Amino acid sequence: MTQYGLPDEDPVDSPTADARAQPSEYETVAVPVLVIGAGAAGARTAIELADRGVESLVVGKRDHGDAHTTWAAGGINGALGSLDPEDDWTIHAADTLNEGHFLNDPVAVETVTKAMPDQLRELDDWGADFDRTDDGEINQRYFGAQSFRRTAFVGDRTGEAILDTLVSKAQSLGIPYRDNVMITDLLSDGDRVYGAVAVDLTDGEFVLFVADYVVVAAGGFSALYERHSSRDDENTADGPALAYEAGADLMDLEFVQFHPTGMVGDRYGEEWSGRLVTEAVRGEGGRLFNADGERFMERYSPDQMELDARDVVARAIAQEIREGRGTENEGVYLDVSHRDADYVRERLPSMVERFASLGVDITEDPMEVAPTAHYTMGGVDIDWTTGATRVDRLYVVGESAAGVHGANRLGGNSLAETVAMGTVVGEHLADRAPRSPTLPDGMAAYAERAMHALNELGDADGTVRPATLIADLRECMAQSAGIIRDEAGLRAGLSTLQNLHERTGDLRVEGDRTDQDFELAVDLSFMLTLAEGILRGALAREESRGAHYRTDFEAPSSDWDRNVLFRRGDTGMERDTRGVSAPSSEVQAALEAGYELDYHHLE
Ligand code: FUM
Repeated sequence: MTQYGLPDEDPVDSPTADARAQPSEYETVAVPVLVIGAGAAGARTAIELADRGVESLVVGKRDHGDAHTTWAAGGINGALGSLDPEDDWTIHAADTLNEGHFLNDPVAVETVTKAMPDQLRELDDWGADFDRTDDGEINQRYFGAQSFRRTAFVGDRTGEAILDTLVSKAQSLGIPYRDNVMITDLLSDGDRVYGAVAVDLTDGEFVLFVADYVVVAAGGFSALYERHSSRDDENTADGPALAYEAGADLMDLEFVQFHPTGMVGDRYGEEWSGRLVTEAVRGEGGRLFNADGERFMERYSPDQMELDARDVVARAIAQEIREGRGTENEGVYLDVSHRDADYVRERLPSMVERFASLGVDITEDPMEVAPTAHYTMGGVDIDWTTGATRVDRLYVVGESAAGVHGANRLGGNSLAETVAMGTVVGEHLADRAPRSPTLPDGMAAYAERAMHALNELGDADGTVRPATLIADLRECMAQSAGIIRDEAGLRAGLSTLQNLHERTGDLRVEGDRTDQDFELAVDLSFMLTLAEGILRGALAREESRGAHYRTDFEAPSSDWDRNVLFRRGDTGMERDTRGVSAPSSEVQAALEAGYELDYHHLE
């Protein structure tokens, strides 16, 4: 757990050096490979390990089979060419680089795009039940800014179908899971990782995981924003913060993806605020209108219209609202009612059902939508040939990692990344023959200090509840580092963050370690770290590119063909930059061919 403290203070060794090392009661579990996170990335890594005879344990924060992957709706990309035979992986790679504004790691992009056709066939073999073309091929739909129909789907519940498939496969291979367990600290001396400290959320007991290798697959940090598409207690920065505290580098944190179409809370109820209206609605022809009835994307992107890249569409909607052409609830309309009603019911069943439960028939009436924080392109800097971080035996996969998406992610590429890279990490670790380890001298005491610090956190008896600070943090991030940014706003954000750190000194945590307050207090520590990284990264990047748009530097700059990195140093977050590399000649050829989506195919 990140120790609370002012952003500018010297970091305190984690766990706190001055926490009294009193022995705590805890369960010890030794495993060759500990996989932290039970979504698609973690599951796919464990499956690859099991296939190669290596034992792992998958630890998830929620109930079995329930992870954020279930919320990925519209599809998963892979250049199968079911409907557009000219598509191939090099064009998929070129689209990914183009829309990532060339900040992507070309190795990452090629690793994922090359693997995807086979990955889709494999998921299909394992029972993913993809929609079919009339010829019985895996069907593919349009998704934003992709040159061809490349997004395979299971209605509009693709993530759920894929996670169900992976969980069943894991069960058939006898892979053990531990559910409802929150990892709070990695055991690391900064050079090597030895396991993790955790709290079992069902009984509040501490667990000490001792592992030869640790794989972090615990998602991103979009829940740092007031309006976000995940559930409130997901994507709270656990994965990147744990790895950073253990000594790994963070990268590209300033690139936060705002999905153009989240539900508008004032219309549908706060519990629905920001929840995703899948891009598949636009992929199936959905149109955006402002409150004046104008199809405004004609002004912003006449060729790609509603299916331009997410950053373009989200900024256009934000501008319509800001300039007074939004609805009275601060949204715009998304309408698919011109399509045949049966077709809409078949292709978008979850959307139809969800809106029907709120009294809206989307085959007849529009939905009210506004941008919502959806995905974080940044995360842990890894070697994309293996998933390795700079900390020995610590690996990262899925949204917790940075590199494949660059400055802006293509819809459908996140599910793709989880399975493609999970396979790579599993294969690589299996070759290293992990064994069931024992804990080296010193690490047990380190773990006990971590548990002591958690005990103290649970006993915090000040006046401010963690939920209050998280709400204030979310408001700060929305105001200072949202879709549109500038230096003054980012500096104001850092000063609010400093104030939030000061208020953690007066934290009140009610109940015991099974209560929500305790979990939120740990989340808050992770979230404060990543918030600082976003603000500092956005301040450093004096240009606009992809999802990072600054009114004081409106154009992209070749000076910033670089990734921004943060390392935990003696004086806090230490920043560095690194130039990006060139793609392979095959992908370069696809880039030069100039493929792009022609929206008018849809009309
Ligand atoms: O809109 C969606 O269905 C989201 C997909 C994604 O983010 O990949």
